[in-house]
This record gives sequence, structure tokens and C-alpha cells, in this order.
Amino acid sequence: MPACSSGVKLANMRRGAAQQEVDRTRPSLTAIQGLVHDVLDSVLAHMGAVLEADVPFINEVSFHLQRMRGKLFRPALLALANRTEERPDDREVALGAVIEIIHMATLVHDDSIDRSSMRRGRPTLNSRWGHKVSVIMGDYLYSRAMTEITRIGDLELIELAARVTNDLTIGEMVEIAHHGQLVEDPRQYFFLIEKKTASLISTACEMGAVIGAREQREPLKEYGRRLGMAFQLIDDLMDYGGEQAVMGKPVGTDLREGQVTFPLLAVLPHLSPAERRCVNAVFDPQEQATSDDIQRIVDVVRERGGIEATRRVAREYADRAREALVGLPSTPAREVMDAAVDYVLARDR
Ligand code: FPP
Ligand code: MG
Repeated sequence: MPACSSGVKLANMRRGAAQQEVDRTRPSLTAIQGLVHDVLDSVLAHMGAVLEADVPFINEVSFHLQRMRGKLFRPALLALANRTEERPDDREVALGAVIEIIHMATLVHDDSIDRSSMRRGRPTLNSRWGHKVSVIMGDYLYSRAMTEITRIGDLELIELAARVTNDLTIGEMVEIAHHGQLVEDPRQYFFLIEKKTASLISTACEMGAVIGAREQREPLKEYGRRLGMAFQLIDDLMDYGGEQAVMGKPVGTDLREGQVTFPLLAVLPHLSPAERRCVNAVFDPQEQATSDDIQRIVDVVRERGGIEATRRVAREYADRAREALVGLPSTPAREVMDAAVDYVLARDR
């Protein structure tokens, strides 16, 4: 019996899914998941089965993680890509579980590295059980995912999974290497977000193509990569409060963690000498940045147009993601993948 089989149904996604209109003015994740809601239910159940262990402590930690579950955005994209042609391949459930478990593993390790205490409203593994458990549980998740994809037995898919986990580790190592440094070259930033975020979204789409729409492999892979770039840019913009900053909502976490993201990079060349000194001070290892210092930089980034500049670049990636879909057969799946672009752009609204 899968550990997550009860209480994890995606019932709220069931609303006449296939016929459901996608509202482009208010794109919701529910609408995007709608077409593949039954696949996502099966992915959740399959994840429970894949992670089941003979060791009660592993099941306890694993159950905590499954209750912390995310939006299944990547498995949804994999299933949609798989529906680009006429007959979807049923390996989408196992592959969706593999992709989501890899995603989980990266977040477990990332939270431990970042010393984050909460994720998705629940305590992280490192805050609840400590870093030793995070390290090994991340390894457990990753090794279960690799065992499962090996069971599927297609070398091409195994290679994709191996390559993407390697990319994710490269991304994280670059982030660690840049920690606390004012790295001003935007190419470094784009390299980093491609490795740490776009790679997995792209691989989800590419796997969907490999099993169900082989001829569309390149466009679907590119769609995922560009969508992933837009996704991370919007994430980084949200850390500066998004378009309409909400009073009392925490901002500046990336800065506090010593990370330079695009909203700051976009305004750096336009700062006054006094503003530039503030930024330099936050990255000066001799200085101890206070909350006021961080807030000051958030304010400067907002005043100097860092939010708009980031949104512009995200929109460029988003437009190019849509372009990648142009040659695909006209199907409900293509329509939903197009709507997923709107959803990604509107995440901060
Ligand atoms: C979140 O970044 C981090 C990632 C998306 C990638 C993390 C990758 C690793 C830790 C490599 C390990 C790989 C395996 C296979 C175990 P973030 O800190 O910007 O996002 P956040 O705000 O959600 O924490
Ligand atoms: Mg983090």
C-alpha cells in the first residue's frame, strides 16, 4: 500500500477537465493540471510505492515529504508533452514520479545547504531531523528515482535522468561558489538558472516527447528550457516583492543568503555612487548586513526598475517558449502548454 495513497487525491483538479476552458486572463495551475489530473493522481500514488521502505524511519520522513508535496508542475508538463501526438504512452506515470522525486531530492539538499527552516508551509527535513537526515534522505530519494527509471529500462531515458541530475548539481555548485560575491556578469546568472531550474523542466518535456512524440523532441525540450528560464526569473522577481509589493511579506531572502539575481543585476549599471556603496556593503565580508540594509537595496532595485526589467526578460523567454510550440500538432495538450506560459508569467500576481 503506497504511503501517500490516502488524502492526496487531486480531486480539486476534476472539473470537466478535457473540455475545461483555459482562462488566459487569470491562468490557474488547476486549469493546467486539468487535462492530466488522472495521470497526476497516479503519479502521487506511484511516488508512494516507489519510496516505500522496510525501515519505519525512512517511511516517516518520506511521509512528511509527501505531505509537503508541490504542484506537480514537472510531471504535468511531461504528461502534456506525451499528449502532443495521438496515443500517449503509459510510462508517463512512472517517469512523472521519477522527475518529481528527483525534484524533491534537490529541494531536500538545497534546504539543508541554505539552512532553510520551512518549505511549502511545513518544517524542512533539516529543521525537523537535522542535516545528517537531509543528506542521506536526499540520497535515498535520488537513488530510488534512479532505480525506478532503470526498471523502466530505456537507456535514452536513463541518460536524460543522469544528465539532468548532473546539471542540477553543477547549478548548485556554481551557486555555492558565488555565495556572498557580487558576481556582475549576467551570463553567469543565466548559466546558473539554466542548470538549476530550466534543466529539469526541459527534461520533463523531453521525456514526454521521447515516449509519446518523438518527432517533437527538440521543440518540446526547447519549450521546457525557455519556460524554465521564465519560471526562475519570475521566482527571482518575487523575492524583490513582485509587481505589487505586499506589505509585511518577506522580501530580500536571496540577498540575505548572498545571492545576486536578475532584478539586482539589471539595475547595477544604473545606480548612483551612494546606492552602489550600499550594495557593495551588503556583499562586503567585513560588514554585517542588517535587515534595514537589505530593505534599502530591495527599495533601490524596485525604484530603479529592476522588477520591470526582469519581467521583460521573463516575457522574452516566455514568448520564445510559445514559439517552440508553433509547429506542434494542434491538440488540447498544446493549448494547455501554451496556457502554462501565461501561468508562469502570472505567478507573482
Ligand atoms: C533551489 O534553489 C535549488 C535547486 C532548484 C537545485 C538544487 C540542486 C541540488 C541541491 C543538487 C542536488 C542534486 C540531487 C540530484 C540530489 P533556490 O534556493 O533558489 O530555491 P528555493 O528558494 O526554493 O530554495
Ligand atoms: Mg533554497
